[in-house]
Amino acid sequence: MLAARDRWVARGVSTPALVVARAEGARVWDVDGNEYVDFAGGLGCQNTGHGLPAAVAAIHEQVDRYLHQCFMVGMYEPYVDVCRRLAELSPCAGGEQRSLLVNSGAEAVENAVKIARAATGRPAVVAFDGAFHGRTLLTMTMTSKVAYKRGFGPFAPEVYRAPAPYPYRGVGSDDAIAGLELLFERDVDPESVACVVLEPVQGEGGFVVMPDDFPRRLKQLCERYGILYVDDEVQSGVGRTGPVWAIEHYGVEPDLLVSGKSLGGGLPLAAVTGGAEVMDAPAPGGLGGTFGGNPAACAAACAVLDEVATPGFRGRADELGRRLRGRLDELATRAPQVGEVRGLGPMLALELVGDRESKEPAGVLAKSVAARALANGLILLTCGLHGNVVRILVPLVASDAEIDRGLEILEEALVGAAG
Ligand SMILES: Cc1ncc(COP(=O)(O)O)c(C=O)c1O
Repeated sequence: MLAARDRWVARGVSTPALVVARAEGARVWDVDGNEYVDFAGGLGCQNTGHGLPAAVAAIHEQVDRYLHQCFMVGMYEPYVDVCRRLAELSPCAGGEQRSLLVNSGAEAVENAVKIARAATGRPAVVAFDGAFHGRTLLTMTMTSKVAYKRGFGPFAPEVYRAPAPYPYRGVGSDDAIAGLELLFERDVDPESVACVVLEPVQGEGGFVVMPDDFPRRLKQLCERYGILYVDDEVQSGVGRTGPVWAIEHYGVEPDLLVSGKSLGGGLPLAAVTGGAEVMDAPAPGGLGGTFGGNPAACAAACAVLDEVATPGFRGRADELGRRLRGRLDELATRAPQVGEVRGLGPMLALELVGDRESKEPAGVLAKSVAARALANGLILLTCGLHGNVVRILVPLVASDAEIDRGLEILEEALVGAAG
């Protein structure tokens, strides 16, 4: 498989030495029969666990009825059912809620920008330091990491960047708001900005949690200038931080919500949700796509949304978050390479550093921790500008024993790699 992968697959898609045979809940088995605790969840797409029974049953049932129709050719119930659920769960402002379904997070962010531009008649977009919004031209431009952009220019116009809070690295809410105000004086007239796009917990950027006051202050600034607030919850949403949407921790009503990843329970599905006035700004035919809102993906999404909206799921996610946090804090007392343990609910990470005074990012160490963990039975991902953040995206159905086993392997890998 490894040789065949090198022979037939483009090298630009990076892959670890893991060949999957089977997965269930929070565990994965490779083709050699090795078992892994999964702290990656298919890159945050398995919040409800590999093979959520209700989603799998709904997919089977849908597959037997019909597959692709294209919602622009023939309507079907599962699409509308997902939009209804997203409306019922929406944190957004604007009264009656509507949604658009697409295939990927990047496509959803692109569409959120299109909708914001159509609704405001303005061209500019503000993204933040540490942002990751996808790999298409516009979303790559909005993304704040050259490794995802090298060699791929020219980039999309009218994308501006403001500082984001990163308390561990000395940037607080005041600095970020001041930076945005400066941007509005120096680089772009706020009256020409359609939207700001912010992840409440930055995913690829290093699991940087926005401070309590920042989304609210950002929203106030948006209201002052008639700018729409787009909440990118592709990674932080669908139960990842406990509540269905991470923005619920902040009591802020965004204008548009972007969701994806875990939404389809393992099938490709993403969405843009918001109030009718904003969502209906584009004329009929302005939005859509051949595959957006595939019936099987929608059937799965209905089961996923039903599951994450239950008090039981929330309770387990909160409990898992507390357990993980406690264990990671303990680990940090034994491992001086851990500069910070941070996160929101069970969306947690360790930022690894050379030493706690200099805070020099330890990207090589993090890479080696992930490689050692994999060799010992734990699938683990890194993130952050310097790749020095070890992040946990474990399916939230993991048992205590699975969590404990995963953390044990993580600690061994950290001690071994630092050794
Ligand atoms: C916050 C955020 N937005 C957008 C995306 C892009 O999603 P996709 O890879 O499905 O295009 C990601 C993917 O990691 C993400 O984390």
